[in-house]
Amino acid sequence: MRRKLAAGNWKMNGTAADLAELNVLATLMPADAPEVIICPPAPLLYRASTVAQATPISIGAQDCHMQASGAFTGDISAAMIADTGAAYVIVGHSERREAHAERDRDIRKKAKAAWASNLAAIICIGETLEDREADNTLDIIAGQLAGSLPTAVTAANTIIAYEPIWAIGTGKVPTLDQIAEVHDFIRSKLAIRYGADIADMIPLLYGGSVKPDNAALIFEAGNVDGALVGGASLKATDFAPIISALAQS
Ligand code: PGA
Repeated sequence: MRRKLAAGNWKMNGTAADLAELNVLATLMPADAPEVIICPPAPLLYRASTVAQATPISIGAQDCHMQASGAFTGDISAAMIADTGAAYVIVGHSERREAHAERDRDIRKKAKAAWASNLAAIICIGETLEDREADNTLDIIAGQLAGSLPTAVTAANTIIAYEPIWAIGTGKVPTLDQIAEVHDFIRSKLAIRYGADIADMIPLLYGGSVKPDNAALIFEAGNVDGALVGGASLKATDFAPIISALAQS
C-alpha cells in the first residue's frame, strides 16, 4: 500500500510562538493519522524538530541549495537542514521557480543534494493558468517531470506534489477530473521512467487551496495520496480536519 501524506508549507509565516501549533495539532490528529509533515521557515527548523519529537509529526524545510557548502550568502544546504532534525525538504515550489528563477535542472540538483543528506525531496510541479487555458497542461507536466526528477528516484526518497499555480492561494481548485487526469498522467510517466514497482509506491500530493471543506472531495480523486497545504496548515484547527479527511479516504 502507498503511504498517505499531509504536508504543511508555512511559507514565510511564523515565529517561535507559533510552534505551539504543533502540539495542538498532535492532540487533534486522529489515532490512525497518515504521515504529517510541517515545513516551517528555516530559522524555526531546529526548534520545530525538537518540539515535534514528542509528537508523530515530521519536519521539513521549504528549499535547499544545490551545493553541499560554499560561498552562497543567505543560502542553506541540505546537510544543515538534516542537522536540525528535519527529514524532508520541498524543492521546486512554484514560488521559488517564479521569484527565484529556479529551473528544472536546478531543482533536479537540489533533489540530489537533499538525498545526499538523507532528506526525502518533495518535488513540486504545476502549470500556470495560461498553460491550462492553452491546453498545454500535460506537456508542461511532462517537461517538468523529465527535467526536475533525477534518475535515482525511489519511493523512499521522493514525493511529488502537483500544484497548479493558478490554484495556489487563490481559493480556486481544479475539478476532480482535472486533478485525476494530471495525477494519472504523472503516475504513468513515472512507470515509464522508473518502472511500475517504484511508480506505484511514490506518493503523489495535490496542492493548491486545499481547505477543511474541500479536502475530503479532493482525496476522492484517483492517484491522490495526500496534500501539500499552504494557508490551511498554519492553524492546527484548520490542518487537523484535512488530516482526518485523508485518514478516512
Ligand atoms: P495554499 O498553498 O494551500 O495556500 O493554496 C499551497 C502551496 O503553495 O503549497
